[in-house]
Formats: sequence, structure tokens, C-alpha cells
Amino acid sequence: MHKLVVANYKMNGNVDFFRSVNVLNKLKVRDTKIVLCPPFLYLPFIKIKNKAISLGVQNLSETINHKSTGEISPIMVKEFKVKYAIIGHSERRAIGETDEMIANKVVNALNHDITPIICVGENNANEGLNVVKSQVKVVLKAIDKNKIDKSREIIFAYEPVWSIGTGKLPTVKDIDKAIKLIKTTAKTLNLKVLYGGSVSGDNYSELMPSMADGFLLGGVSLKLDEFKKIVLGVDK
Ligand code: 13P
Repeated sequence: MHKLVVANYKMNGNVDFFRSVNVLNKLKVRDTKIVLCPPFLYLPFIKIKNKAISLGVQNLSETINHKSTGEISPIMVKEFKVKYAIIGHSERRAIGETDEMIANKVVNALNHDITPIICVGENNANEGLNVVKSQVKVVLKAIDKNKIDKSREIIFAYEPVWSIGTGKLPTVKDIDKAIKLIKTTAKTLNLKVLYGGSVSGDNYSELMPSMADGFLLGGVSLKLDEFKKIVLGVDK
């Protein structure tokens, strides 16, 4: 099964940077998919010329109702060939995005043929994984309720909040525990589970033995050489 490396550029970069991202078109990979998620504004500057690379976004609207000032719908991003959407990132949960909003966004994405990359994770290292289980269950319930085809690919990213941007990593054993929990809770779905949080060119190989189907990368996505190194390492 192919691996996935996703770049979450967050609110970083500018026109020049996203033009420079086009060097990634030269990457030669066997069986790894790469998803680049710039801020919406910069989508047109990434010109995909490599079958392994797709575009993603970092958020989507909950509905396609036109009375949604400031929102961007899945229909709009599809015009820019977007295939994936990160949904429920902890940085959005922190500014008030609720489980219900996240579930609506996941359903809206799937109804418009966008593959969601749903972020789940506990806030503190000693908190346990109950929160992860409940975050997954909310999404599962919405998928059931809306009769979404269960064969559709759905991606979860296990991102412990305490690891994001801190340089702190969970152990492979802890990552596997969370991934097993996500896979058993959502066993009716066609799932991939990524790991995200402080992954770098120096530490990614330590995490490779985990059950993760790839990585969701934050800060390191801005360093193109290091990003390439991780993609090629995952592809080996
Ligand atoms: P860092 O890789 O910068 O820790 O961020 C991870 C992340 O939030 C990806 O979505």
C-alpha cells in the first residue's frame, strides 16, 4: 500500500516560495504520494507536473451555502485540482472549531470527492487516548449518518498536540498504540493513518518502523531539501 507524505505549510510562504515549490516536480518516487497544502491564495502558483504529487488545502467550509462570508467551498477548490483537505487541525480546534463542525467539513469534502485528512490527537503527553477515540467516533457517526460510501479513502493524522512544533516526539510504541486505536474505532472505513508532530529530516527514520502510513509535516515542509530527503526516505 502506498505511503503518503503531506506538507502542511500552515500560514507560511509567499508567491516566490510557492513558485519555488515547483522543484518538487522533479522528485522520482516509486510508491509514495505527496500532497502539498498551501494557503488557499497560493494554490495557483503550484503547477503540478508529477503524477505522485497532488494539491490539498488546510481547511474547507462546512456547507456549500453561498451565504458563508469568508469561507471556501470544496466546489471552489476543485477548480484548482485540489484532491485533499486537512480538516480539524489542532490549530483550528484551538480557535473554536468543534467536533460537530469538523464532522460537517468531512462530510462536505467527501460529498464533493475531496479526500479528508482528519487530524486527531491528545493535548498533553499524559492525558491518554480517550480524546482521540471520541474525535474519531464523531467523524465515524457523521459518515454513517450521511451514508457515505465506506470504500472511499479516508485519512486520519495522529498529531499529538504536545508534539506539534515542540521538537518532542512520542515513541514508536505510543504512535502504534494511537494508530491501532484509530484503526479499531473506525474499522468499517477504508483508512490510512499518518503521524504528524515535529518530524524532521534528522528524526523521520526513527519513526519509520511505526505503523503509520506516512507523515503530515509542518515546519519541515518549508525546507525543500529536507522535505525531499523525507519523501525519498519514506519511498525506499
Ligand atoms: P510540525 O511538523 O511543525 O511540528 O507541525 C506538525 C503539524 O502540525 C502538521 O500538521
